[in-house]
Amino acid sequence: MPVDARDRLRQYLLQRKEMGEQDLVLDGLSVEDLLKVIGAPGGRAANLEAALGPRPTKQSKPSPRPEIIAPPSGAIPVAKIAAAAKPAAKPAAKPAPFAPPAAAASAAAANVVFDFPPISVGGVLVDGVAPYAGGLTTLDAIAAAVGVCTRCPLHSTATNAVPGEGNPDAKFVCVGEAPGATEDATGRPFIGRAGDLLTKILEAIKLKREDVFICNVLKHRPPGNRNPAAEEIAACSPYLLQQLAILRPRVILALGTFAAQTLLQTTQPIGKLRGQIHRFYGVPLIVTYHPAALLRNPNWKRPAWEDVQLARRIFDNAPGA
Ligand code: URA
Repeated sequence: MPVDARDRLRQYLLQRKEMGEQDLVLDGLSVEDLLKVIGAPGGRAANLEAALGPRPTKQSKPSPRPEIIAPPSGAIPVAKIAAAAKPAAKPAAKPAPFAPPAAAASAAAANVVFDFPPISVGGVLVDGVAPYAGGLTTLDAIAAAVGVCTRCPLHSTATNAVPGEGNPDAKFVCVGEAPGATEDATGRPFIGRAGDLLTKILEAIKLKREDVFICNVLKHRPPGNRNPAAEEIAACSPYLLQQLAILRPRVILALGTFAAQTLLQTTQPIGKLRGQIHRFYGVPLIVTYHPAALLRNPNWKRPAWEDVQLARRIFDNAPGA
């Protein structure tokens, strides 16, 4: 049966629109204008195919078999993460020792689940998590500590801290890079354009935002959305590690290079890290492209779709599921 080119075009444009790509232009027409011209129906497509493009068909090249990767150990050699980063504002030479606020300090005995060794990020030593965040035994206590944190200079340029949010009993945790402008303005993670896409991706694997916990490597916004500096990651990562220790997730979805490289203590590029099952202190960790990168590179939507499906399968099949 011949394929109606207008239907194909309509479907394609609706997908692009759903992804928020309003700047797709054809002969000077925006997506919206073109949809009006060809008479597309309104409404929001709610499934993953709309968010990420069609599911891989039988004919499509199969993904490589997921490989189990050894847990991280020793230092986090992310000097190259910072080297590859856009120039950052000069951060403090060494993170100040962490002093939890009174409310946080009053939390009960330490509840660190993972026995974190001393780690270093880009050559900046994090003297284990316990001296910094090990006494913060609840997610609320971490949020309170993050709210008054001055361990790196980012607090002075940010409007709000963005500690993370979600279900305190979540077993599916998404880790992004750092708050953007909308997150900075509201104190909530992933609520801008990239956040809308993350919400759709989660919905497509039958998870609501309220079912999961969403947080970032950095809890304050880097000015102008520049890449995180190694010192900032070193200063902030105890909070993330302690969040993960408290949550004890069944699966971690690392969104983008900084989350993946920080948690896996590697400098490998994201293209090498995705498509495998890694381990973070025994917890399966799946790496996928950052939603903001997906908005810029539609070709990555299909691999991202495979990544999140894999994360969902692991989640479903984990002990205790
Ligand atoms: N990008 C991130 O990495 N995190 C957010 O919270 C928002 C955008």
